[in-house]
Amino acid sequence: MQNLEQILIDAQRDFTACNNLVDLEQAKAKYLGKSGALTELLKGLGKLSNEERPAAGAAINVVKQGVEQALLAKRDAILAAEQAQKLAAETLDVTLPARGKSRGGLHPVTLTLQRIEELFHSIGFEVAEGPEIETDFYNFTALNIPEDHPARAMHDTFYVDDQHVLRTHTSPVQVHFMQDREPPLRIIAPGRVYRVDSDATHSPMFHQVEGLWVDDQVSFANLKGVVQDFLQRFFERDDLVVRFRPSFFPFTEPSAEMDMSWNGGWLEIGGCGMVHPNVLGHVGIDAEKYRGFAFGLGVERLAMLRYGVNDLRLFFDNDLRFLKQFS
Ligand code: PHE
Repeated sequence: MQNLEQILIDAQRDFTACNNLVDLEQAKAKYLGKSGALTELLKGLGKLSNEERPAAGAAINVVKQGVEQALLAKRDAILAAEQAQKLAAETLDVTLPARGKSRGGLHPVTLTLQRIEELFHSIGFEVAEGPEIETDFYNFTALNIPEDHPARAMHDTFYVDDQHVLRTHTSPVQVHFMQDREPPLRIIAPGRVYRVDSDATHSPMFHQVEGLWVDDQVSFANLKGVVQDFLQRFFERDDLVVRFRPSFFPFTEPSAEMDMSWNGGWLEIGGCGMVHPNVLGHVGIDAEKYRGFAFGLGVERLAMLRYGVNDLRLFFDNDLRFLKQFS
């Protein structure tokens, strides 16, 4: 019993020496644990006589309370210190400048489409649109490509089901528009098209711009003039010329492949021709009275040349370092 005083002093000293909760827990066990100093003393009370026991018990309890108090005080101090440390570490300086807003930009293909639309709009062309999932009829049959026609194989078509395809070209928009409207018609139809093809110069999805002019006096010469004028303005090159090479499309007759002069050589930029009478027939336009020309240009090709991009896939990688150059 004489060392009761000493126990309290020891406990206080031990607790003071702790600076985290784990150590404190260990120090606590030394006094209040199962075989701690105070616990042992309390156990020993049973051996005392009935007369001695109350006073001894009371004395032990006083010390026990002192130890518990010291323990709680130290625990609070440790928790407060940890909290303060955490706050200091997580300090937010609200006076720091905020993170800037970063500006987005239009995709180079979008910029190219806008430029194409603007230029054709300025010479009186309307912009028309059609669905990207087409029926077999619009994508092929109405364009004079009947079932089993070998030209269907040329198109590397994505089929949605027996009757529907992802359109392989923008030419079906011609059909929709001629069904809905009477000549004279002058439209371009820009949009996505799909083909089973993928390498440095082919993407399974790409863009075309269809052109269509139907009137009673439209010629092959007009076609060449319109395309050449457009390309000269698009590339801002007055000396750019267009050359036609004989070709075949089921929906045009005659048909041609279009090349433009470029750095001393020729580059293919699309297909064209005079709208085939069968196509006019499918949409109920009198082929005796009206004629039309149509052309299809590859949009990515124009964008690559205008911006000096050498790999088509860059347009679709969505790498911000690439895209930011256009904003
Ligand atoms: N639709 C053709 C293609 O994608 C291009 C074309 C359009 C040809 C209009 C002639 C007239 O290949």
